[in-house]
Amino acid sequence: MHKLKLKHLTAIRWFHWINFPLLCLMIWSGILIYWAYPVYHIGPLRFFPKWLFAALGVPFRLAEGMALHFFFMWFFVINGVLYVAYTLISGEWRYLVPRSWSAFRDAWQVVLHDLHLRKEAPPQDKYNAAQQIVYFAIIVMGAGSVLTGLAIYKPAQLAWLAALFGGYPMARLIHFVLTIGYVAFFIMHVAQVILAGWNNFRSMIIGWELVKDNE
Ligand code: HEM
Repeated sequence: MHKLKLKHLTAIRWFHWINFPLLCLMIWSGILIYWAYPVYHIGPLRFFPKWLFAALGVPFRLAEGMALHFFFMWFFVINGVLYVAYTLISGEWRYLVPRSWSAFRDAWQVVLHDLHLRKEAPPQDKYNAAQQIVYFAIIVMGAGSVLTGLAIYKPAQLAWLAALFGGYPMARLIHFVLTIGYVAFFIMHVAQVILAGWNNFRSMIIGWELVKDNE
């Protein structure tokens, strides 16, 4: 027999699903801004070659990109601050924060288990150790994006903040690398959600998950 079990609180679900389109808007408007000075590359490979900018219709939209970026960042910040505050007040943070360094060993075992190289998965609570590390990291990354963003938004008024990140160019680089990190996280996260199946995905929408009677 199966029964329904509450997995994700309503507020957490709202914060999660509001964050998704907001992050997309931040990345999109960020690309519109990046076009004006697209310095980053790996060897000869530019992150966004000219033809890609042209194909996406990005050129000459710097002012539009800045307006969108600086408008939506407030909602991104408010949603993020409320989410963190809520996890602290509700106690949900306990499921998200890795308990000790042994989380890294457990996370490695989760990876081996997912790759079918290890039979048993380490014991877990709501999230396994790999999820805890990644979810916790993504929250810290969110804070990093806001702080580096503020540093490069107002580098004169907030010179101390830019200095804290090693100066303006370094703050800009960290801001950019964090964005690449979100894209990498997103690909991995959605792949895991697909692998975990409908029951797990649905629980992030309705809150409840179908579990065996004895769970
Ligand atoms: C199509 C996009 C997305 C889908 C389908 C999705 C789906 C899900 C699902 C099903 C869970 C619950 C996992 C579980 O119970 O094992 C979850 C949790 C989570 N997701 Fe996503 N997600 C998406 C986008 C994002 C984005 C863009 C971020 C952040 C950058 C994000 C960050 C998180 C975090 C931090 C949690 C843990 C939430 C908590 O319990 O407090 N997700 N997601």
